[in-house]
Amino acid sequence: MHEALRPAAVPYYEDPSPGSGALPPRAWWSTSDARYVSLNGAWRFRLSETADAHGDDFARPEFDATRWDLLPVPAHWPLQGHGSPAYTNVVYPFPVDPPRVPTENPTGDHRRSFDLPDDWPGGAALLRFDGVESCARVWLNGAELGTFKGSRLPVEFEVGELLRPRGNVLAVRVHQWSSGSYLEDQDMWWLPGIFREVTLIERPEGSVADFFVHADYDHVTGAGTLRVDCEPGGSVSVPELGLDLATGESATVPVEPWSAEIPRLYDAELATEGERIPLRVGFRTVAVEDGVFKVNGRRILLRGVNRHEFHPDHGRVLDLETMRQDLVLMKRHNINAVRTSHYPPHPAFLDLCDELGMWIVDECDLETHGFEVIGWRGNPVDDERWTPALLDRAARMVERDKNHPSVVMWSLGNECGTGRGLSAMASWIRDRDPDRPIHYEGDPSCADTDVYSRMYADHAEVALIGRRTELPLPDAESDAKRRSLPFILCEYAHAMGNGPGGLSEYQRLFETHERCQGGFVWEWIDHGLRQRTRAGVEFFAYGGDFGEELHDGNFVCDGLVFPDRTPSPGLIEYKKVIEPVRIDGDGAAGIVRVTNGYDFADLSPLSFRWTYEVEGDAVDSGDLEVPALAPGATAELKLPRVPGGGSGTPAGEGEAWWTVRAALADDTGWAPAGHEVAWGQFAAAASTTTAPRTSAASTSAAPTSAAPTEAPHTKTPRRAEGGVVLLGPGTFDAATGALRYLDHFQIAGAPRLDVWRAPTDNDAGSGRHPDLQLDRRWREAGLHRMRHRLDGVAIGADALTVTTRVAPAAGDIGLRTVFTWTATDDRLRLTVDVTPEGDWTVPLPRIGLRLGVCGSLDGVEWFGGGPGEAYPDTRAASRIGRYTSTVDALQTPYVRPQENGARADVRWVRLRREDGQGLLITGDPDFWFAARRWTGEQLDTAEHTYDLTPSETIWLNLDHGQQGIGSGSCGPGALPQHWLTAAPATFSFTFGALETT
Ligand code: GAL
Repeated sequence: MHEALRPAAVPYYEDPSPGSGALPPRAWWSTSDARYVSLNGAWRFRLSETADAHGDDFARPEFDATRWDLLPVPAHWPLQGHGSPAYTNVVYPFPVDPPRVPTENPTGDHRRSFDLPDDWPGGAALLRFDGVESCARVWLNGAELGTFKGSRLPVEFEVGELLRPRGNVLAVRVHQWSSGSYLEDQDMWWLPGIFREVTLIERPEGSVADFFVHADYDHVTGAGTLRVDCEPGGSVSVPELGLDLATGESATVPVEPWSAEIPRLYDAELATEGERIPLRVGFRTVAVEDGVFKVNGRRILLRGVNRHEFHPDHGRVLDLETMRQDLVLMKRHNINAVRTSHYPPHPAFLDLCDELGMWIVDECDLETHGFEVIGWRGNPVDDERWTPALLDRAARMVERDKNHPSVVMWSLGNECGTGRGLSAMASWIRDRDPDRPIHYEGDPSCADTDVYSRMYADHAEVALIGRRTELPLPDAESDAKRRSLPFILCEYAHAMGNGPGGLSEYQRLFETHERCQGGFVWEWIDHGLRQRTRAGVEFFAYGGDFGEELHDGNFVCDGLVFPDRTPSPGLIEYKKVIEPVRIDGDGAAGIVRVTNGYDFADLSPLSFRWTYEVEGDAVDSGDLEVPALAPGATAELKLPRVPGGGSGTPAGEGEAWWTVRAALADDTGWAPAGHEVAWGQFAAAASTTTAPRTSAASTSAAPTSAAPTEAPHTKTPRRAEGGVVLLGPGTFDAATGALRYLDHFQIAGAPRLDVWRAPTDNDAGSGRHPDLQLDRRWREAGLHRMRHRLDGVAIGADALTVTTRVAPAAGDIGLRTVFTWTATDDRLRLTVDVTPEGDWTVPLPRIGLRLGVCGSLDGVEWFGGGPGEAYPDTRAASRIGRYTSTVDALQTPYVRPQENGARADVRWVRLRREDGQGLLITGDPDFWFAARRWTGEQLDTAEHTYDLTPSETIWLNLDHGQQGIGSGSCGPGALPQHWLTAAPATFSFTFGALETT
């Protein structure tokens, strides 16, 4: 063979080894009395298209890089104007030929110089990288330190002897693609760069090389046992406990335990000859006992989320403020657990979890999901050549994070199939840290794990698992082992777009079956990248927006918070579903029941208040004395007497409701006093259903536009000049029966039957369950292009009757619809009768009326469910009350536009202009209400928020029914009880103008 054609030895970035030159991994700590120099800041940067476009010249101290661009560190260079981000979920965006990577391998050369502080003592020092994606080669002052992979794990090099007081030059070459990329196929943006801190750390003689805090809690005796292993030896003091110990020595004393609910930490200090490190020690013991996952002897319930690290402008570069913001938001929404999907988070995040209280499943930086596409052939986790890399990753995670009480489980990684490499990781971890259980979801036999974990199992299967009656594994021994394990859903309830639905039903299973210990919603945040259109309109970009050849679209936006961390309705729903205090009652009996659903805390940190509302007006309110119930305990309390009636008796006209709220009595580290934790609502004894009051709150001038109808209104439909029919306050087109005016308000779009909704991501479903691809099935049935055939307009003695058949072209299904209009003096009443015809094999997206009104009627007030959006299976957080809003504020800006903004159980709604005039719509029965400045069809075609252009008309949807939401974008669909099957339906509305006197 010709010399030049012989394949070269595999370069370091393709070699499956973890790298060379790094120090052994060890614990991470944020401060000590040793000095450090942050090397964050402005670096010089050069991007090349290939790994070897340039030699190593740039690493020489004398190299002149002053003409290179400046780049902040930490950062991902594609988010700083160099190259582009790219998103794929499962597939690798390069040919799968491990460990080889493409020739097109964006490579960023980073370079900076730095001086040492004047008082820098000299001697040993470390250079630490907390995170570099995906492979780096490092030089200091021209000397090569080594290479490394493992993007979200730290690496350290000994550099003391290379340092000089002034003009040190650090050069780092970072390759986007490396053998490591095969191990980092997580569902997220591919974002190369030095994305976490770079630090130079002094290592004085006798300083701490590594330490391991063992702080157990014995729930029987109430004693904590502390032992700190340290290299080299030294001492540990915990002043509050009167402890002063040699390292390696243990002591047992009475303590208050640490838990996610009561994160009790003791300040301590570890001292060796050369270093003092402040510690925060939390005593707790984690165990799997009798098939149950316990902390401090008690079963815990995980109310969790999967958290990726994400910022809409900076990608996976997170500052402390953002990390704290995530935790504060989680705590405020009753979340108590995080799975660090799918890599160890920034190390400081775990300090915050210790402090604020959070159960952490710490997951290794490992996913090889793209091998599934090729039948798992060549999967690195089952190929010994990769085992050193896997063990390196396990060790770097465990060593870094082992001292956090918040970390209660290690996870081997995500979606790697099965293989010997995983077993090797598990046995290394077990040996190093026998005190924490091991998690991994991808192996159904649970060979290496202490918990049975699944993703997206449906409710029925979870119920079977809860009873330990799930289908058996083929191997009896594995089956017996798995059946004995506690169960968690490491992912469930796919929070993509509108949803997830079905949370309440899952929660009920977790609360019913001891074995089902909760789960982690997928996922915390939408990874939408903030961009602007040419016209300057801000939006969040998703897969495909950067011209990627392969991508998975908006599957990257499936979080409970929007990219800018605004809570989505899904988070509000989750907060309610997982609330740690249950409040319900019986208005007739005048009783409220309060149950403590915490695992450790009593109710003393909470204060309770009741409110008594009639038609949404607070009539009275007061404090409710609730005893400091122990976890699991329930108290039944008497409701107070309210004015105008006895206990539980409504005062005044209208529907009466009790609402009882539990709020923080005092400030905490995550919310101020008064923050609402839980609530319950129940109807008062005998509600008087009254006609809603029609008077507008503001009084103002008389009608401005001339009404075509003249008072007094007629209760009998009669033809009038101009081809119209007059009935009550309505003016109809005599030929079509279409409502043209209501009082003096022009009706831009006459009411008609509407069954279409802009499909949600969950309606779109996934490839796994074709039946749940409702979007496709609806379009195949033609529900997005229904035609309205007018079959007759009948002017009767007291009613105007309009008959239509609403049906799509090409098929024989249809909805025969009869509109019956009647009038009282000042109101119009419409009764709609719908009869399906033909063989309906798909559910209806919605069923109700759509009508268009003038865009100036944009003030909205309603009595019903609110304040936020709700759908049949996402309505737990919707509470009955009177709410005001605007049409614009009713919209939920999902990153990819889709059906949104419905309010549940609406009794009546008022739409008001600025001058106070407006319309009143009352439902019989209650209805789903939505209003927007575009039609459902326009919402359907929009791909980004900027595609939605407001029109002159406000479109109202007054729905009798809505299809449930479910979690079909990556899991089960809506439960059967939330399906909107085509069936005969009758519903009514009354319409009138608001009185303005
Ligand atoms: C899971 C995976 C997650 C994410 C999710 C769908 O299979 O573990 O990383 O891709 O599906 O959003």
